[in-house]
Amino acid sequence: MRSFLRSGIKRLVASQRQARPLGDRAAVVIAVAARKGGVGKTTTSVNLAAALARFHARRVLLVDLDPQGHVGASMSAQFHGSAVGLSGVFTEDSDVDVMDTVVPTDAERLHITSGDRTLAAAELALTSRIGKEFVLHEALEVARTHYDVILLDCPPNVGNLTLNALVAADLVLVPCDLSPLAVDGVHALIETVSTISDRLNPKIDLLGIVVTRLDARNTGLNESVLAELRDSYGVLVFDETIGINTDLAKAQRAGKNVFDHAPQSRGAQHHRSLADAVLARLSA
Ligand SMILES: Nc1ncnc2c1ncn2[C@@H]1O[C@H](COP(=O)(O)OP(=O)(O)O)[C@@H](O)[C@H]1O
Ligand SMILES: [Mg+2]
Repeated sequence: MRSFLRSGIKRLVASQRQARPLGDRAAVVIAVAARKGGVGKTTTSVNLAAALARFHARRVLLVDLDPQGHVGASMSAQFHGSAVGLSGVFTEDSDVDVMDTVVPTDAERLHITSGDRTLAAAELALTSRIGKEFVLHEALEVARTHYDVILLDCPPNVGNLTLNALVAADLVLVPCDLSPLAVDGVHALIETVSTISDRLNPKIDLLGIVVTRLDARNTGLNESVLAELRDSYGVLVFDETIGINTDLAKAQRAGKNVFDHAPQSRGAQHHRSLADAVLARLSA
């Protein structure tokens, strides 16, 4: 029997979506995710994005998938004007593409989607949508052609927004502090990624685990948690770690990435080294 869908009706539906100009790049999409709040997901996302743009001339898009809107808050002194909210991407019948929600920042080559508190409602509404896990993947198609790297700063829970990030991502970067239960959180997230790989996104892979908020004074506990992490994940754990550094928190409060706020700080050095290591892994 002739297929009506394949022979035209599908094309008709597609043509109703507004066409957007394509670029000439092919971004790698990295989800920054952890099943825990306060481990440094946003700090890592913002400063890794800034380092890749600043020191490696990459065109970077940082997408804020957390309804708390901490990416925009962390860069509030560095961009002006708000674009269309990202929640429109997830709303059925709206024709919002991720590119419509992008705003440039004062940091050259670094673009962001600023916070959108209605994302929480949009996430709930996704529940009844067919193919709900693939919405972001589709909405990033054009953005992938305009950037070299797209970072997705995820919320701490594995709800529909994080699922969308993991389905859209090529790679996952897992920030992990060294609190006693941190390794359990990493195991749980990696199990989720493995399920996503089996069922929804076979091309997803782990970029690595980055130890964050490392407190040099707390050596005993650090070493035992780090040893457990390395036993379980080996070279997946980056040698480059992010130490506790108040300049990172101050930069966030000042609404700037750390390289524009405290370029000589340890926090800046650590994120620059992490960016070098991430690129080395990407090209390996
Ligand atoms: N390495 C660090 N040194 C000092 N403060 C940090 C560091 N990383 C994160 N913070 C602070 O800890 C809090 C939580 O970090 P954040 O990146 O927002 O975590 P998440 O996105 O995982 O919830 C923020 O106030 C941030 O400024
Ligand atoms: Mg956050």
